[in-house]
Amino acid sequence: MTVVAPGIAARFKPGQFVTVAVGGPDTSMVLRRAFSIHDVRPDHGGTVEFIFAITGRGTSWLAERRARDVLDVTGPLGRPFPVPRDPVSCLLVGGGYGSAPLFALADRLRQRRCSVDFLLGAASGDRVFGALTARRTGRSATITMADGSLGVRGVVTDMLGQVIHEARTDVIYACGPMPMLRQVTALARRYDLPVQVAVEESMACGVGTCMTCVLPVVGSDGITRMVRSCVDGPVFRGERVRWDDVGTIPFDAFGAPGWESRAGRSPRSAAGHGGRDPAGRAGAQQASGRQPAPGRRQSHGT
Ligand SMILES: Cc1cc2nc3c(=O)[nH]c(=O)nc-3n(C[C@H](O)[C@H](O)[C@H](O)COP(=O)(O)OP(=O)(O)OC[C@H]3O[C@@H](n4cnc5c(N)ncnc54)[C@H](O)[C@@H]3O)c2cc1C
Ligand code: FES
Repeated sequence: MTVVAPGIAARFKPGQFVTVAVGGPDTSMVLRRAFSIHDVRPDHGGTVEFIFAITGRGTSWLAERRARDVLDVTGPLGRPFPVPRDPVSCLLVGGGYGSAPLFALADRLRQRRCSVDFLLGAASGDRVFGALTARRTGRSATITMADGSLGVRGVVTDMLGQVIHEARTDVIYACGPMPMLRQVTALARRYDLPVQVAVEESMACGVGTCMTCVLPVVGSDGITRMVRSCVDGPVFRGERVRWDDVGTIPFDAFGAPGWESRAGRSPRSAAGHGGRDPAGRAGAQQASGRQPAPGRRQSHGT
């Protein structure tokens, strides 16, 4: 879908996303829907393009919009992909519609004289996005398809090692389903390569206030914090995400019950590191091990 949004187009950096109000003025769907920005163009003062799959009521409503309809769009949101200073070999890995933000990133990397290889995968031919563009614009493009209808039968991680070798990859960028990002990170670590992942955690507000989108990430100080993927992400260094604990608040996360005794700090001094407990759970009940992260309940009529 392409919308005229000059302000968003002017400020966009690859990896950022928009949120879109759906359902019209009388809707019960109060939450905006998040979509990665695929591309921006200068036409009509500035247009923004995002790609979406119809998965529920909100995206069904969006698919029914027609030319010249007015949409309520907020953006650009989130932190973009960092780009290398030097011209290096970059491998861009996308799963399903997760490949949508990778093409603007590829343009940006090429401006930096980086080489760009693509590794894109999906369950079936109708679920892969950008295979032709990847083949046209990438130094190489490897496509995997779970049903074997296009490219290599299998999933992207089946081919990752081979592509890394052939492309002499220096850095990996990945966007797609969380299990894929987790496996890409594990393989990148095996090859000792840096990996930047754009996560697609469920979001409610999209602007940092509700804590729906938190996930445990280890900081450069070695401390795990529950960070918001909408404002602190959606791009993270893959090895910093505690993939085994996504969807929970690990017992040793900053501000979680049990953190204080291990670190030997009082809750007040802990607050001094960043104000309120980053998970927004000050005074949460005592618990051992992990507990569900906020906003992890099944919700309806969102
Ligand atoms: C950063 C980001 C980028 C994305 N980019 C794309 C993209 O480029 N293309 C694409 O097709 N999809 C993308 N998605 C997924 C897209 O947001 C969903 O497909 C869309 O919200 C579905 O809306 P729906 O009404 O059709 O589906 P429904 O499932 O009916 O509703 C989804 C809504 O419910 C909310 N929700 C669901 N479960 C929970 C929960 N447990 N807690 C709180 N809220 C919940 C969601 O946040 C969302 O607002 C992206 C998501 C994120 C977070
Ligand atoms: S979606 Fe509300 S804080 Fe991220």
